[in-house]
Amino acid sequence: MNKINRDERRDFILKSAKIAGVTFCGCIMGSLITACDKDEEIAAPPMPTGDFPVIKIADYPALAAPGGFMMTKLKYKDGSPANSGNNVFIFRIDQSSFATLDTICLHKSAPVNIVGGVLTCDLHAAKFDSATGAITDHGFAGEDFPPLRIFPNEFDAETGELKIKI
Ligand code: FES
Repeated sequence: MNKINRDERRDFILKSAKIAGVTFCGCIMGSLITACDKDEEIAAPPMPTGDFPVIKIADYPALAAPGGFMMTKLKYKDGSPANSGNNVFIFRIDQSSFATLDTICLHKSAPVNIVGGVLTCDLHAAKFDSATGAITDHGFAGEDFPPLRIFPNEFDAETGELKIKI
């Protein structure tokens, strides 16, 4: 477990107050700093691990050629579900680039499926661009709403692995 010492804690409190634009009276700030002078160790918050889901493209024949696509669930390396257990779309754009998108419509949270090769919301039939997530047709939604969420990704051509930053 990471530990931080009292000087780091003191600096952290002072910097946090500055960043937050908080003005403490002298007695409050003094007591906070005094509390830091007690040489107790506290646990630092966990750091992001960058432990993103990775798939090997060779394991998915649907993604073998540009224009290929699939819908799948992803897991982190510890086995926990990514994207709250919802599916993710993966489209192969060309030899070295992929689009990875959410399958949940941000209008009323309905699932989006591929109908006739087009991303289409199950509830109000809105349609989305598979490369950008942009709305191309609002269907029966009757109002504007955000595009499909795009997840950044990195493809390693040497290993054939696609890392989805979800
Ligand atoms: S829930 Fe998707 S368009 Fe309404």
